[in-house]
Amino acid sequence: MVLMQVIDNKRVLSSVITDWKEAGLKIGFVPTMGALHEGHLALVRKARTENDRVIVSIFVNPTQFNNPDDLKNYPRTLDSDLKKIEPIGADLVFAPSVGEMYPPGEDPEVPEINLGSLDQVMEASHRPGHFKGVMQVVYKLFKMVRPDSAYFGEKDFQQLAVIREMTKQINLPVAIIGCPTVRESNGLAMSSRNALLSVEQRIEAAKISRALFYVRDNWITSSPDELFQHAIAGIEKNGIMKVEYISIADAQTLEPVINRNGTNSIRVFAAVRLGSVRLIDNVEILNNNA
Ligand code: PAF
Repeated sequence: MVLMQVIDNKRVLSSVITDWKEAGLKIGFVPTMGALHEGHLALVRKARTENDRVIVSIFVNPTQFNNPDDLKNYPRTLDSDLKKIEPIGADLVFAPSVGEMYPPGEDPEVPEINLGSLDQVMEASHRPGHFKGVMQVVYKLFKMVRPDSAYFGEKDFQQLAVIREMTKQINLPVAIIGCPTVRESNGLAMSSRNALLSVEQRIEAAKISRALFYVRDNWITSSPDELFQHAIAGIEKNGIMKVEYISIADAQTLEPVINRNGTNSIRVFAAVRLGSVRLIDNVEILNNNA
């Protein structure tokens, strides 16, 4: 059995990648911030079936956090993460330090992308600068890893859309593969932030997906206003959670749906605060493009 390599140095990474490229091997890449759960493992499994070599990065990227406490509290569990990925057959884990990714004095390399509406709605308006940080780190990682394909979860649907747009605008030769959200048995979308929730909070948090599934299931028969009211009331019922936003949006532009009959693909999105933890989720309502 070939052992999984764990590398924290970008020059060492680059020489491994160069060898693989010279051998004509197809590279699949799963960028993560660690605290790995079944959602991440599903991405690694998919990458494993579609590529000759699989790289997972584990890096809590400071430039995408607009709240210092959120960055400080983000779970960091490298040893248990490595134990979870190795049996799936990842070939290499790249786990750099902040100094390795952002050496002092080096050009910060933020790609100049016009994200249009993707940069105005939902996460973009509630977390200023977040997507700039995501694009910066993903662009840097793509340059280091030079993958053929990169795998991202649909739980962060807006992030996926932003990365697709960046890849298209800079013409990066990487196929961006979106993968369905993996859920706990009670419907809660798997997220690294769930590790910060108590058992009771995880039960409470299941109300978020329940509300989104209600919107999906009643989309034809109810008005958007009724759906919003029902979803917000369901989530906030016990006074434990607070809705930051719920949006029924065009799955391409992510702008709120105005004409429900003139839109081909629609999703419902939510961001919710539960104590100090912020959770996001989204569910497909309609997809005539599939
Ligand atoms: O989704 C994440 O875990 C992060 O935003 C990503 C894509 C690894 C960039 O830091």
